[in-house]
Amino acid sequence: MSRIAYVNGRYVPHQSARVHVEDRGYQFSDGVYEVCEVSGGYILDRTRHLDRLDRSLSELAIGWPVERAALGRIMIEVAARNRVSDGLVYLQVTRGVARRDHPFPSADTRPALVVTARSTDRAAFAAKAEEGVGVITVPDTRWDRVDIKTIGLLPNVLARQQARDAGAAEAWLVDEDGIVLEGAATNAWIVTGEGELVTRPAVSGILRGITRATAIDTAAALGLTMVERGFTVGEAKAAREAFMTSATSQVMPVVRIDGAPVANGYPGEITRQLRGAFFAHAEKIAVRGSLALEKP
Ligand code: PDD
Repeated sequence: MSRIAYVNGRYVPHQSARVHVEDRGYQFSDGVYEVCEVSGGYILDRTRHLDRLDRSLSELAIGWPVERAALGRIMIEVAARNRVSDGLVYLQVTRGVARRDHPFPSADTRPALVVTARSTDRAAFAAKAEEGVGVITVPDTRWDRVDIKTIGLLPNVLARQQARDAGAAEAWLVDEDGIVLEGAATNAWIVTGEGELVTRPAVSGILRGITRATAIDTAAALGLTMVERGFTVGEAKAAREAFMTSATSQVMPVVRIDGAPVANGYPGEITRQLRGAFFAHAEKIAVRGSLALEKP
């Protein structure tokens, strides 16, 4: 089955999906994006993702490319047309196509919208979560506005590649005081010896992860104690458990930091609990069979 992408109002074969060379996303990284998990035939937490998109767009003064409700429907349509039951929906909005010039283009320039979807291997993913993954720690070299989900991801790309070269799944970005901020594409968490869940407050310095927010809801429902504060690399290495959250990894146990095992080197019990209960606490929008029932 061939993949289908949505590009500026049209559903086109993924292979021939194109944007213009003067799209400002291509020229300046002048755009924002969202990645939603699809699990068991449902898009998870679409409302929260669209809320965050709204904030990213307004922080950069980019307009909505289509009405919010329409975008919600396009996300389902793209997932459905690609028969995605477990996987991801990706959406990107840029400031549009205009002659290359740094200031914003004229007000009638239409924001550009691309939506794609792809399946992931659920079994392989579950096996990975059973084992857990390793992370390395690297200095954070990003700009200040990492709370905006922009497509300008070069420091994240370089950090992820550094992780891959070191045989790890993720790079945890560390500030000048040795505090772990977040991963290159995930939020970072530990569980202390007292069984408290710790993750950095999402005021500044990190992206307000949607998976992070739903994991906080899940932790509350499970009666787990949760503290939003920074933690050092040393504290993480001495933690009882560690894990990371994102739409692409959900709740993923971290079992090695800079090559050294976290606790006994196996996924922790609290991480397992959180992972197990996560789906129940996420918002679920059915991919199939729901098009006609979709509320605007
Ligand atoms: N990344 N921090 C950063 C820097 C991220 O890029 C992401 C998501 C997260 C987790 O956010 P969420 O739970 O909303 O996925 C945290 C996406 C998945 C990506 O770039 O592929």
